[in-house]
Amino acid sequence: MHTIRIIIGSTRPERVGPAVAQWIEEIARPLVEAAGDIQLEVTDLKELGLPFLDEPSPPVFGRYTQPHTLAWADTVAATDGFIFVAPEYNHSYSAVLKNAIDFLNREWHHKPVAFVAYGGHAGGTRATEHLRSVVGELRMYDLSEMVLIPHYWEYLNADGGFGPPDAQRQAAEALVAQIIHWTRVMRRGREELARAPQ
Ligand SMILES: Cc1cc2nc3c(=O)[nH]c(=O)nc-3n(C[C@H](O)[C@H](O)[C@H](O)COP(=O)(O)O)c2cc1C
Repeated sequence: MHTIRIIIGSTRPERVGPAVAQWIEEIARPLVEAAGDIQLEVTDLKELGLPFLDEPSPPVFGRYTQPHTLAWADTVAATDGFIFVAPEYNHSYSAVLKNAIDFLNREWHHKPVAFVAYGGHAGGTRATEHLRSVVGELRMYDLSEMVLIPHYWEYLNADGGFGPPDAQRQAAEALVAQIIHWTRVMRRGREELARAPQ
């Protein structure tokens, strides 16, 4: 089995992140189940509750000391592909998502990541541009396929659900199809890399 993990990148009270994550999860789940060799997991950074990075060594050395870092490292190491659900905060993405990324290093390497971003007029575009430069440093493959949701508040239902228009749904289906494909391909790539002479 392969694991694709949706990460909810906001933690504030009254946040929209879980509703956006639930929407993408509902689109992804049947596609993932049809794939047969993929399982879908969700990590809510609010529930994960990481403190600000509190490791004495830079994560590139992998000398983790804190139980929360070791647990997060196990989770990310066991994941083959990611969907980051990212709000736009001040023309970038959230500090809590950056912190969760920064905690680790090798566990992210050579894994695909796709973005579902939301915000005002720009629909989270600037959040995704900043994410791309960061995940590149971590040797992740950031997919061109993405979902941008401008004016997200127009699609929030009274019952807390989220229902963006068809264009976003189609973009989401394309994103999920690609993340499934690259999750498989990059796992094979990592296995080849592990076997190659160093
Ligand atoms: C600190 C902060 C900064 C924000 N800056 C932007 C911004 O630059 N562009 C934008 O489109 N929306 C911005 N927003 C609006 C957010 O996109 C909106 O509040 C969204 O609901 C945030 O996601 P969340 O509810 O999951 O936290 C900002 C919101 C916050 C809290």
